[in-house]
Amino acid sequence: MTERITISPTHHYRNNDKLIGIGNAFWDMSERNGLAGIVADLDGGVLRTAPGHEFIGEGHEFVNFSCCSYLDLDSHPRVVEGGIEALRRYGVLDHCIARSRVQIPAMLELEDSLGELFGAHVVCSIAASTATFGLLPLIASGHLGDGTRPLMVFDKNAHVSMANVKPVCADETEVVTSPHHDLDFIEDKCRKYARVAYVCDGSDSLGGYAPVKELAELQDKYGLLVYYDDSHSLSAYGERGVGHVRTHSPVLDERTITVVTLNKAFGTSGAAIVLDGYDKETLRVIERFGGALNYSQLLNTAAVGAGLASAEIHRTAELTTLQNRLHANIDLFDSLIHTDQSGGTYPIRLVPMSDETVIEAGRQVFEAGFYVSPVFFPIVARGTAGLRVMMRAGQTEEQIRALCAALIAVGARPAAPVPGEDGR
Ligand SMILES: Cc1ncc(COP(=O)(O)O)c(C=O)c1O
Repeated sequence: MTERITISPTHHYRNNDKLIGIGNAFWDMSERNGLAGIVADLDGGVLRTAPGHEFIGEGHEFVNFSCCSYLDLDSHPRVVEGGIEALRRYGVLDHCIARSRVQIPAMLELEDSLGELFGAHVVCSIAASTATFGLLPLIASGHLGDGTRPLMVFDKNAHVSMANVKPVCADETEVVTSPHHDLDFIEDKCRKYARVAYVCDGSDSLGGYAPVKELAELQDKYGLLVYYDDSHSLSAYGERGVGHVRTHSPVLDERTITVVTLNKAFGTSGAAIVLDGYDKETLRVIERFGGALNYSQLLNTAAVGAGLASAEIHRTAELTTLQNRLHANIDLFDSLIHTDQSGGTYPIRLVPMSDETVIEAGRQVFEAGFYVSPVFFPIVARGTAGLRVMMRAGQTEEQIRALCAALIAVGARPAAPVPGEDGR
């Protein structure tokens, strides 16, 4: 028998051997220490682990400080009721056919409502990941943009939902990875290439915002197209919760495309693609050729109803009240624990620990009644391990103070006292 061919992968843009080989050790260790694979019931805002859990035993109660529902809208009675009401009103959970053929008006209703909120055209999808997987290849081929095939510049820290699409984009155009927010790198490419598209987070999962104003200068100078994922700042940031990019970018036209998940502070399911200045024909191309945006399922009616209710809350003073509570909680945390993110409006804090101590620290904090997710090498670079804390509007002062005491007990750095408050 002739020798059969074995395959040597190119691994230009992804490498599962490395990803699983290294990443699985992280997950195994987290799970062995009771910090992953937790099953818990929600009971009056407090999570209760399922009986028989390996390390914490029956009835362990904990407050989740690692949840992205920054405004607690996911359990807001009007949001829950909105889901139920829409299901009754439409009488069907999902109408199982591609929207480009036949659709019920449910998702259109949500798109209109969100469109009004953002002052833009909105296309919904079942997830931000799905939206990104549909849109980036259309940008790469020039069908979404000005018709010119752009060089695709992915920020080094772009969320995995964007980074995963590199190989697909590379089949349509050239793809490069830039250092994080490196404006010189992007400008250099803009000088060399007829068209450039830059892909990045509007608000990063580990804190920090994109330099939208500086990028707008490049957009004006070179026609740069920027694709932002602003999932972490939707609802939590800006008037009516439109997020960081929509609040600060001076370029709100076809050169800026923003995608936001509805599954963080907005408190529901699905995602919104926020577009300005695209004509009907291009919108049809998105609908028909945006991959899973067309062939996969739509937001079901319960998610649509919950989304409509959440959008209504965004139009009222209650949203500002919730944002203010979130920011007061962030300030309280910062007054007790020092992190690199202290003083910022972003709801995520990383409490630095060493790779060797972070799991044990997370375990002790969990035993004290708080879940914060440990991140460590190889998931993050060596020397950047820590406990990731997410603040929410509904956390009480007592909970935050108790969490901070537990964090200090495992080595977190206390904040410096405000001058005059320590009696000196
Ligand atoms: C920046 C960012 N984008 C997208 C996602 C995923 O959103 P979705 O669940 O809507 O795909 C996440 C989730 O962690 C995220 O942090």
